[in-house]
This record gives sequence, C-alpha cells and structure tokens, in this order.
Amino acid sequence: MGTLGRRVQGVRPSLDFDLRRSMEPPDSTATTTIRTERLVLRRARASDLQEIHAVLSDPTAMRYWSTPPHRTLSETEHWLTKMLACDGDDFVVTFEGRVLGKAGLFRDPEVGFILHSSFTRRGFGVEAVRAVVARAFDVRGLALARADVDPRNTASLKLLARVGFVEVGRKRGTWQVGDELCDSVYLELTPEHFRAAHG
Ligand SMILES: CC(C)(COP(=O)(O)OP(=O)(O)OC[C@H]1O[C@@H](n2cnc3c(N)ncnc32)[C@H](O)[C@@H]1OP(=O)(O)O)[C@@H](O)C(=O)NCCC(=O)NCCS
Repeated sequence: MGTLGRRVQGVRPSLDFDLRRSMEPPDSTATTTIRTERLVLRRARASDLQEIHAVLSDPTAMRYWSTPPHRTLSETEHWLTKMLACDGDDFVVTFEGRVLGKAGLFRDPEVGFILHSSFTRRGFGVEAVRAVVARAFDVRGLALARADVDPRNTASLKLLARVGFVEVGRKRGTWQVGDELCDSVYLELTPEHFRAAHG
C-alpha cells in the first residue's frame, strides 16, 4: 500500500522498536541518487508535479493503492509536499530522464512503490525496489524491510517475492479506499535473506 491512505484504526501492527541504525550522515541524504543498470532514483522535486500526477492519476497503477486515483493536480501537489517533507528514504524513479514513478521507504521500515502503467512489465519494478532495499540494508543499516499489499495485487506480490520478501501475515479490513474496504498481506525481508537471495 502507498502513503497517505486512510488506514482503518487499530488494525495495523505498531512499530514499537527502532529499526533504524543509520550509518549515513543525515545531511548527505538530501542529494542521494541511486543508479541501477537502467534507472536513476533521485529525491523528488517540486518540479516533478506533472509527471508524478500522471502516475497517481493512472487508474491502472492506482487500482490497489491506499487512495483512489488522484483527480486533481492539487491533490498530487499535497501528496508531493508530504513526500518532500518525509523523513523516510523515498525516491522518484527515472528512466532516460523521465519520471516513471516512485520507490523507497516512505517510513522505516515500510517499502512503497508505484510505476505508471505504460512502463510496467519491463523489470523496472524489481530493479528499483531491489536498489532501495539494498541501500536500506547496506548503507542505512536497517534490520528489516516490510510491505503491506492488497492480496489481489498480483504484480506487487510477484515483485516482492522476486526481491526476496516473504509473507508473515494477513489481516482483513485494514484500509478504507473510497467505498471499498481492503485487506492486507504483510511481507518482510531481512538483510540476511536479501543477501542470500542476491549474492
Ligand atoms: C507493482 C509494480 C511496481 C510492478 O512493476 P513492474 O515494472 O511491472 O515489475 P517487473 O516488470 O519488475 O515484474 C515483477 C514481477 O511482477 C510480474 N508482473 C508485473 N505486472 C504484472 C501484472 N499486471 N500481472 C501479473 N504479474 C505481473 C512480472 O511478471 C514479474 O514476475 P516474474 O518475475 O515472476 O515474471 C507495478 O505493477 C505497479 O506500479 N503497480 C501499481 C502500484 C502498486 O500496486 N504498488 C504497490 C503498493 S504495495
């Protein structure tokens, strides 16, 4: 699930321990860029608004997100303002200079990702999520990454399995998205499991 959705009160497991053992000086993170084979992941900018709106208003990409597709630019502007202020480790995903979506830990240790539907099924999702998870473990020293996915969201479940995440639980009625009450599959990944899977 993504950020800023309407979570049904009291059903989500709470994080009552600090997983963050940052090994990176905080002032260096504002300009962090991750380069993968094909992608550049960089921090969001206010000027990304139109391209991010194209993603967050895409009904296919937003089908299992934590909010309905954005209808107005100001909705996305509000979302982007929150992303810019976020103290997680979140990135816009770019390919050949174009913003395809976002991937990152919007709040430790929660992973979130979305790509515009015209760029899916080309391996970009796995490439981006693998990169942000590698950074979370190898640079930032997190002891765990976690994801919360709608059980109907086959693409995300397959992507997370490819990266090495394993299911640790399920809960019903966790998210109110528009008129729909949605469920959650919880998945987790440890650095040990990630390194064993990816060498
Ligand atoms: C999830 C998402 C990022 C996947 O991106 P992607 O670039 O297509 O992913 P990849 O090409 O790296 O493929 C990853 C796996 O998902 C599978 N997959 C991708 N789209 C799929 C689809 N629509 N249906 C079934 N499987 C799909 C791929 O076949 C691949 O599995 P495999 O390795 O077993 O072949 C993209 O579909 C998306 O943005 N979805 C909407 C946002 C969302 O739901 N975010 C998650 C919230 S928790």
